[in-house]
Amino acid sequence: MQARKLGSTGLTIPEIGLGCWQLGGGWGNDWDNTIAQQILEAAYQSGVRFFDTADVYGDGASEQSIGEFLNRHADVSVATKLGRGAIYPDHYTRDTIRTATQRSLERLGVRALDLTQLHCIPPAVLRDGKVFDWLRELRDDGLIARFGASVETVEEGLLCLEQPGLTSLQIIFNIFRQKPLEQLLARAQEKGVGIIVRLPLASGLLSGKMTRDTVFRSGDHRHFNRDGQQFNVGETFAGIEFETGVSLAEDIAHHVPANMTMAQMALRWILDHDAVSVIIPGASSPAQVAANVTASQLPPLPQEIHQALASLYRERIHGAIRGPY
Ligand SMILES: NC(=O)c1ccc[n+]([C@@H]2O[C@H](COP(=O)([O-])OP(=O)(O)OC[C@H]3O[C@@H](n4cnc5c(N)ncnc54)[C@H](OP(=O)(O)O)[C@@H]3O)[C@@H](O)[C@H]2O)c1
Repeated sequence: MQARKLGSTGLTIPEIGLGCWQLGGGWGNDWDNTIAQQILEAAYQSGVRFFDTADVYGDGASEQSIGEFLNRHADVSVATKLGRGAIYPDHYTRDTIRTATQRSLERLGVRALDLTQLHCIPPAVLRDGKVFDWLRELRDDGLIARFGASVETVEEGLLCLEQPGLTSLQIIFNIFRQKPLEQLLARAQEKGVGIIVRLPLASGLLSGKMTRDTVFRSGDHRHFNRDGQQFNVGETFAGIEFETGVSLAEDIAHHVPANMTMAQMALRWILDHDAVSVIIPGASSPAQVAANVTASQLPPLPQEIHQALASLYRERIHGAIRGPY
């Protein structure tokens, strides 16, 4: 797989990683460690070396499964997150951040976290900035090698980029959500901060497989957060109302080149922006992982396709995105 630098850290990683939110077999299912190990192994065998998780995914089960996987493969980087769960939205102290870090270290079974990210914490806490001092202290104490932030909006991203020592910014960036192109990607590049892209497939919509009749299990966020009922609406279908998203995906399907699938085109579109360090598509099966890494081998999309998708965004998609963005 092609590799890229994670900002100016000196860390070089294959450009397609794995999102580990749904690692145990998909949202809404009981966590299945056997499926988790199969997905992790498929990713490793396909060349994936970067894994994104969080302390709250599967209530700790995602980190635990990755910890087990690390016993077999030590030559990978794991990015975890803290800041949701019990300490969200207003229990951020030096001690709670340190305790959350220690719990992640235990579940992953490592001495230092490769990368820890603030997990979409409130903008006021980012603005206050003390949380970054505590992260710098954890880094200086050797508990974490690096820190970054996962954010919801461009404004939050720009705020984080001003913090000394920030390694990475995790954002939603896909054919539906093109706003980071206006300012954020260039600013991150200037600052030497790596961009980690989540929701590359807009929760699966950009694979082109969903129809208006697709039904999601009750425990799947595509059911319970469909319109932002539980957390930021942008995290589900990139903030687009489901049926509108299906229609827009049908429009996008007209632009898929003959030699690739729609999922490959969606991933390729992101990779064609060199400010991006790594994409972290999530997968509910080993087959999806294997399919997603193939995008790295494809040539860049032709300029006409980029132009057509930029026009579609301006004319039909931008106005359909809900929530702060
Ligand atoms: N706040 C945050 O920091 C935050 C929030 C959200 C996500 N994340 C991270 O970002 C990662 C990626 O986000 P995401 O998983 O929500 O969105 P995504 O990558 O856009 O969508 C993943 C889903 O799309 C479907 N899929 C994946 N590959 C496919 C393929 N080749 N063909 C057809 N369908 C495919 C699967 O769902 P089905 O098979 O069930 O349809 C899969 O669960 C997460 O795993 C997590 O690590 C972080």
